[in-house]
Amino acid sequence: MWARSVLGLVSLALVVQDSLAFKAHDFKTCSQSGFCRRGRALAKRSLETQSWQSPYSIDPSTISIVDGQAVFKAGVKSSLYPDINFGLEVRVQEDGAVRVRMDEVGGLHKRYDEAASWSLIADPKISQSIQWKAGKKDIRAVYGSKKDIGVVITYEPLQITLSRGGKDQVVLNGRGLLHMEHFRKKEEAPAVEATPTPEGGEEQVVVKADNPGAWFEGAEEDALWEETWGQWTDSKPKGPESLSIDISFPNHGVVYGIPQHATRLALPTTTGENAFFSDPYRLYNADVFEHLASSPVSLYGSIPLMHAHSEESTVAVFDLVASETWIDVSHSSDKSTETHWISESGILDLFILPGPDPDAVFAQYAKLTGTAPLPAAFGLGYHQCRWNYVSSEDVRTVQKRFDEENIPVDVLWLDIEYAVDHEYFMWNEKTFPDPVEMVNDVAATGRKMVVIVDPHLKRDSNYPAFTAAQDLKVLVKPKSGEGEYEGWCWPGSSSWVDFFNPAAWDWWKSVFKPYQLEGGSWSWTKSTEDVHIWNDMNEPSVFNGPEITMPKDNIHYGGWEHRDIHNINGMLYSNLTYQAVAARSDPPKRPFVLTRAFYAGSQRFGAMWTGDNMGTWEHMAVGIKMVLANSIGGFSFAGSDVGGFFGNPEPEMLVRWYQVGAMAPFFRAHAHIDTKRREPYLLASPYKDIVYGILRLRYSMLPVWYTAFRETTVTGRPILRPQYVVFPKDKNGFDIDDQYFIGSSGLLVKPVTEKDVTETTVYFSDDQVYYDYFTFATYNGKGSHVKVPAALHQLPLFIRGGSIVSTRERPRRASSLMKYDPFTLRVALSKDGEAKGDLYLDDGETYNHQKGEYVWREFVAAKKTRNSLRISSHDLGSLKPTEAVGDSSLTTYNPKNSYAKTLDEKDVRVEKILVLGLKGNPKSVKVEGTGEDLAFEFMPAMTRAASTLVIKDPRAKITDDWTVLIQY
Ligand code: GLC
Repeated sequence: MWARSVLGLVSLALVVQDSLAFKAHDFKTCSQSGFCRRGRALAKRSLETQSWQSPYSIDPSTISIVDGQAVFKAGVKSSLYPDINFGLEVRVQEDGAVRVRMDEVGGLHKRYDEAASWSLIADPKISQSIQWKAGKKDIRAVYGSKKDIGVVITYEPLQITLSRGGKDQVVLNGRGLLHMEHFRKKEEAPAVEATPTPEGGEEQVVVKADNPGAWFEGAEEDALWEETWGQWTDSKPKGPESLSIDISFPNHGVVYGIPQHATRLALPTTTGENAFFSDPYRLYNADVFEHLASSPVSLYGSIPLMHAHSEESTVAVFDLVASETWIDVSHSSDKSTETHWISESGILDLFILPGPDPDAVFAQYAKLTGTAPLPAAFGLGYHQCRWNYVSSEDVRTVQKRFDEENIPVDVLWLDIEYAVDHEYFMWNEKTFPDPVEMVNDVAATGRKMVVIVDPHLKRDSNYPAFTAAQDLKVLVKPKSGEGEYEGWCWPGSSSWVDFFNPAAWDWWKSVFKPYQLEGGSWSWTKSTEDVHIWNDMNEPSVFNGPEITMPKDNIHYGGWEHRDIHNINGMLYSNLTYQAVAARSDPPKRPFVLTRAFYAGSQRFGAMWTGDNMGTWEHMAVGIKMVLANSIGGFSFAGSDVGGFFGNPEPEMLVRWYQVGAMAPFFRAHAHIDTKRREPYLLASPYKDIVYGILRLRYSMLPVWYTAFRETTVTGRPILRPQYVVFPKDKNGFDIDDQYFIGSSGLLVKPVTEKDVTETTVYFSDDQVYYDYFTFATYNGKGSHVKVPAALHQLPLFIRGGSIVSTRERPRRASSLMKYDPFTLRVALSKDGEAKGDLYLDDGETYNHQKGEYVWREFVAAKKTRNSLRISSHDLGSLKPTEAVGDSSLTTYNPKNSYAKTLDEKDVRVEKILVLGLKGNPKSVKVEGTGEDLAFEFMPAMTRAASTLVIKDPRAKITDDWTVLIQY
């Protein structure tokens, strides 16, 4: 949130919440951004010019094949600028992904080429088995286990095509829009006409007399050297250096990804006939006040990864660029998609991920940017936040109210008002006189606190964080490259640490170390290991800067301009904070860090939330789509502010919002400072009881969320899975983005995001039985849209037949109090009468799981004879190495580890097995082996409700192998 009035920042009392909504005039449209305007104009000319041909071509005499056979290198020329040299490199990686890099060679300046070093986990391994075959017009490689993938690099014009099974899948520069503006000297301008733009900015148009490249670049120079927008002028010291490329996906009718935008998951078009949006999707991390619920405007984070999908294939592109980027999407038919990517600076570093299905794409992307580590287990509990809990007494009272109502909460949060003058780490001693005692009181029930630390440092010579950063000379510099950049944020005049500067790293880590000084008093950062961190405003948000962020010509470490690194700036901040929080304890414990700004790779450093949403039904609905898009982008640990940040949701809306939040990986209620308090215990009945039920449901399902996390940690598959991910061949599901599966659990949820709803429609794709999670009503799938009850107390949640879901059903006050609780298994039999499911457990706190300290079980229900069913449990843990792209320590497993032993000693067991859909009345239920009879209750099937067999206390320890035999 930002306030228009700078005066309003000085004191909290004056912070103005603007009554007007989204301020379009604070953010550029494509036509107000010089390089985007140029890029789109180029695309327009290409459509208007018959026989358009890209001026870029490969000089065959420069081709070399290096690194064995895998890396293709060649010089590229543009016919417009024969004296300028570009270098192209195409590498086929071990997993079949293709990396395309292009840079200007011997140019006047260097293009930014370090995005990969922040985003990728390692230099990708190059294939050892590729053979390039050069022909007269092109060079090609064929590979893949079926030898069905082909890469063709055409020399003139330059074009790169990836095909599978003889069909083109991804084509670069097929439309001839590739353009890397080379560095040049600013010539004497022949004639300058300054044309005021309607928004008051000045667009500099230089008419060039005789320009042979006009057919491609336009007859006029447009904003190459300077750009004024509103009160800001971007000095562009290096002149034009933008980069545009068209990427087509023939045979793929739908594209997903490129978060963060408030829009549908299947990305609507931005160009062509009947385009849904008129502007391209923008990736330029921004603090957008009261953003719209349907818009291509850039929001807080950027992940330049796009999936293209059809019934036959999934492929993806990952455009590893950190500067402002605009992406146009259009369809030349319902079977193919064309995109055009326009970036302001940086080299071309683009990955083509060949799929062929969503899971393969997730693995290919995870190999590049990594997977999310297992979170601290409390991070999956319920988080209670607002701007602000105003004192330590307030915090204690909130905690007490939760306890009195016997409802669970894991984390209490503090927003910026804990910090005196918004100097983070510095407690306001009047309101928080006893921070350490307060945290200890919260921690006494096994809970944690999260405290905000924003990246702007108040320029106050008595503020140790500011003076230390100043002394270390690690603050971002203004365009002159001298001194410290100064801008406005919550504390007033502020400066920003440049986390690109390694000199800042150790210092930042030291700041988070909680320690008591000798003599008994605390260092200036009074804290304990139970305090975790919220990083906000890290786009960065600068209230008086252009587009509420830093000027692009600010200077970072290494001399790079802010424009070059803008979209990775926020990731570096949460990365360093994550490392700092991990490093403060010895041995290290898993940190929890929440970030607002993010980039490709941010999944390695904690959780994100979708930012400042509005308390409207539209925002509730689009929040789900945004979290799904994030999941596609590898960043699963995501959620939206429950309740809506702005506004005072009516009780019905708040209940629905809790249902949405409880079904997201990150579950936090949050509210703006001007809103009324809305903690769950303040609701009246029946709303309050419904919300209590939802909170307990979330806690009972923690084993499901944690197990789903293990899977994403190892495989990169998302936690929330939209329809196309689970049923990639069912085209009726491609547009569905309001229901999703949770990991591989078989749970399918369709949260209601509309008012006054008593029923809703769910799409069941496959020929399988689906059970209502609560009532055991059954539904049959196979491409049907089915009406299901969805009154306020009813969350449409289903178990797909064939799944076994593990839960912990004893209500507790915090997740840490559940670690030795018994389990309930819901065995949802498939049409064929069988089921399967897994359960992953570890201490949820340390890194001992990386030493094999964990429990990973599989439960299997299989028919023994026509009239008997065996339900058994055995260890998992010998994952096929090829399946693991992420944390490989979770792939080798010795069940006799000390964590498993503790669970065994604590007698952690299965207390109940619920079998849904048994076809016949059970005659006996016995422990196989000992033959011991087990007590059970059976309710036969009724119209549309499955039969239910409840086996109580099956004498089954969670760490033991066991089998229960049901005769019917
Ligand atoms: C930003 C955050 C919001 C927070 C506020 C005050 O608007 O997005 O969550 O409450 O700043 O810190």
